[in-house]
Amino acid sequence: MLSGRFNSFRIFIIYVPYHPNTTDVFHLRNLDRKADFMRIGILGCGFIGTTIGGAMEHREEVEEINLIDRDFERTQDLAQRLSKAQIFGFEDMEGFIERSDLIVEAASQDVVGEIGPMILGAGKDLLIISVGALVDDLLWSELKRLAGENNARIYIPSGAIAGIDGIISASRADIEYVRLTVRKPPKGLSLPPSMQSRCEELFHIKEPITLFDGSARDAVKIFPKNVNVAATLAIAGIGFDRTEVRVIADPSVTQNRHLIEVRGRFGEMRVEMENQPSTTNPRTSYLAPLSAISTIERIISGVNIGN
Ligand SMILES: NC(=O)c1ccc[n+]([C@@H]2O[C@H](COP(=O)([O-])OP(=O)(O)OC[C@H]3O[C@@H](n4cnc5c(N)ncnc54)[C@H](O)[C@@H]3O)[C@@H](O)[C@H]2O)c1
Repeated sequence: MLSGRFNSFRIFIIYVPYHPNTTDVFHLRNLDRKADFMRIGILGCGFIGTTIGGAMEHREEVEEINLIDRDFERTQDLAQRLSKAQIFGFEDMEGFIERSDLIVEAASQDVVGEIGPMILGAGKDLLIISVGALVDDLLWSELKRLAGENNARIYIPSGAIAGIDGIISASRADIEYVRLTVRKPPKGLSLPPSMQSRCEELFHIKEPITLFDGSARDAVKIFPKNVNVAATLAIAGIGFDRTEVRVIADPSVTQNRHLIEVRGRFGEMRVEMENQPSTTNPRTSYLAPLSAISTIERIISGVNIGN
């Protein structure tokens, strides 16, 4: 529900349709509405949720910012900084969903599986930031089905990387490979339980060490807190099994680096990113919330640039 206060205005926006036989396909759909007023729900009041809330506070089209987090103190902290905030206890998830037109998931992969279906089932639009959750093919299909059946939309921002627009376009024809190399300062890596014994070693390395070399599907499972970008690439391009990922602990870098290499019928593409980490959560790049903010602003303004 989008408050019912919309002009009739035609825009093109990336969305994920329900299609029973495809999993990782984006299409363009002609929408006939643009938001004049909108109530945004923020699920997860950490670094990303807080940055998005701050930006939405200044958009006159946003009339209400609804906040929820399993940690009620975080909800309250963010609410104190926002004049448009309404806060909800975690037990009142239904009330939070009912009160919001577009819900921004900025919490964790678990939340996408646990609460995503409720949001879309209620016909509310969902912007997913913990994209790694979509490695679960059944969940991804279910979310697309619910969006299609309930006239809701799913938005997946580019997150911490650039070039997603080019990959979506390129994947309309044959793609030979999509490769992602992630270089992180050893301290910025959250190691999986199977690698915990290497924690001490990593703090003292002098040369880069490759911690993972394999498919995006395995990368997302092994480094769930670090490789949301691998999931976004996989969904935009050639899927979780064909997208190749390397994760390198590199003592010579102070910031997260992403190198994306694509070759296909369109030609070749190479995108190199050096991301500033956030001040409050060093595992999150500052570009990630900026990307979500720009997606929401495109929804509000009705102007979509790219692709
Ligand atoms: N798409 C991308 O490129 C990208 C980039 C960076 C981070 N992320 C993902 O975005 C998410 C948020 O990142 P952040 O830096 O803001 O993290 P953060 O730790 O600063 O904040 C997360 C907030 O969500 C809350 N939360 C966690 N699990 C919850 C649950 N089950 N129910 C309700 N609330 C819950 C926490 O209490 C916390 O307040 C993470 O999942 C992260 O992996 C995605």
